[in-house]
Amino acid sequence: MNICVIGTGYVGLVTGVVFADLGNDVICVDKDEKKIELLKAGKSPIYEPGVEELIERGIEEGRLVFSTDINESIKRSEVVFIAVGTPSLPSGESDLSQVEEVAKSIALSLNGYKIIVNKSTVPVGSGNNVRDLILKYRNGKNDFDVVSNPEFLREGQAVYDTLHPDRIVIGATNHSAALKIVELYAPLERPMLMTDLASAELIKYASNCFLALKISYINALSQLCESVNADIALVAKGMGADSRIGPSFLQAGLGYGGSCLPKDVAALIATSQRFGCDASMLKAVQVINTEQPKHFVDKIKKALGGLDGKTIAVLGLSFKPNTDDLREAKSIEIIRYLLSEKALVKAYDPAAMENFKRFHPTITYANSPYDAAQDADAVVLITEWNEFKQLNLDRLRSVVKQPYLFDGRNIYDPTRVRRSGFCYEGVGRAHNGEAIE
Ligand code: UGA
Repeated sequence: MNICVIGTGYVGLVTGVVFADLGNDVICVDKDEKKIELLKAGKSPIYEPGVEELIERGIEEGRLVFSTDINESIKRSEVVFIAVGTPSLPSGESDLSQVEEVAKSIALSLNGYKIIVNKSTVPVGSGNNVRDLILKYRNGKNDFDVVSNPEFLREGQAVYDTLHPDRIVIGATNHSAALKIVELYAPLERPMLMTDLASAELIKYASNCFLALKISYINALSQLCESVNADIALVAKGMGADSRIGPSFLQAGLGYGGSCLPKDVAALIATSQRFGCDASMLKAVQVINTEQPKHFVDKIKKALGGLDGKTIAVLGLSFKPNTDDLREAKSIEIIRYLLSEKALVKAYDPAAMENFKRFHPTITYANSPYDAAQDADAVVLITEWNEFKQLNLDRLRSVVKQPYLFDGRNIYDPTRVRRSGFCYEGVGRAHNGEAIE
C-alpha cells in the first residue's frame, strides 16, 4: 500500500518505519527540514531502541522515503496518517492547530479517493472536525473517509509495542474504509476492534487516564503505607495477583511524567467539563501526582536535617528509562525543590544529560553513578535505568560522604542496601524498608 505519515515524532516515525518494514511504500513527512535531512541520512532524531535499524533497512530496500513536501506526499498516497502533536493549552484542552493545518493540506492535495487516518491523540469529535475541514477546503469533488486509529505505544519500547499491540482500534463511519485499515494491520495478527469514530477517540483517553489513575491510586496508598508501617510493594503484589486488577502500572514511585499521561488527564478533564460531566476523580489523580515529588524531597530533607549546603547525587533524569525525553520528567521539579533548599546537585543519566542542561544548566553533570555519588550526602534515584539496578553498593558506599540512599522507584532490596551500610528509604516501604524477620 502507498502510505504517507505526516509528523515524524515518536508516533509518526515509528508507525512509518514499521509499515515500511511490513512491505508498504511509505513517505514520512515533516516540515522540520533538519529532521528530514537527518532521517534521509539514516539517523533517528529520537532515542528509541530499534528505530534506527528500521530506518536504515527501509531506506536500503527502497520502501521508506522522507520528505518535507506534504502536498506531493499526500498526492502519491492512498492512506494518509495524521501523527502530529496535540500539546496542552493552558486551559488543559488540546491544541489542535497542527491537526487542522494538516487537514487543510490534505484537502488541497486530494487528487482521488483517500483514507485519512488520525493517529494523533485528539479529543472526541476531532475526526468529524477533520472531515468538515477537508470538505470545506477540498480540491474538486474527490472523495475521502476519515478513520480514527489511536496509538498505544510506549516510549522506550515503541517498536515492540507497534509490532505487538494488545489491540488495534479502528473507528470509522464507512465500513470499507475500516476494512482497508484492517488489511494494513493484518500482518501483525493482533486483535482488532472496529468502532464508531467517537468511541475510538475516547478509548485512547480512557486508557491513558486509567493508567494514570492506577499510578496515583498506588502512590496515594504508598503514603498511607508509610504511616501504618506497611509495604506498598507487597500491597501492590497482593492486589495485582487478582486477575481483575492485574499487576501492571501499580509501581509506586514519584508519579507519572512524559508527554502523554499528564497531557491526556488534563485534556479529559477539559472535555468532561465542556460537556458538563464530573471530572473530580481525574482532578484527584492530578493532585496526587503533583504532591508525590514534594513528599519525597521532604523525606530527604528530614533525614538529612535540612538541605542547605548538602550535596545530592541524582541518578536518572529522563521521565522513564530507555529514553532521553524530559517532558514532565519528575527530575525537573525534584531538582528545582532541592536547589530552592540550597542543596548542591550532581546528576547522572545514561541518555538525557544533554537535554537536561536546558532546564538546569548550573548543576554538576557526572560521568557515572559513582562519579555523581563522590562526596555526596545522599544518593537519590529518580529514574530506574537498568544500569542502576545492579550498582556496586560497596563501591558506592566507599565514595559517599554520608550513606543515605533514597530510592524513588523502589528498585532496590532494602535489606541488601542496608547491609552495604546505607540508610535506605524508598516510597511507601514498611519500617523504612526493614526486612521482616
Ligand atoms: C503512555 C501509555 O502507556 C501508552 O500506552 C500510550 O500510547 C502513550 O502514553 C501515548 O499516549 O502516546 P508513555 O508516556 O510512553 O506511554 O509512558 P508510560 O510507560 O505509560 O509511563 C508514563 C509514566 O508513568 C512514567 O513517568 C513512568 O515512570 C510512570 N509509571 C508507570 C509509574 O510511576 N508507575 C507505573 O507502575 C508505571
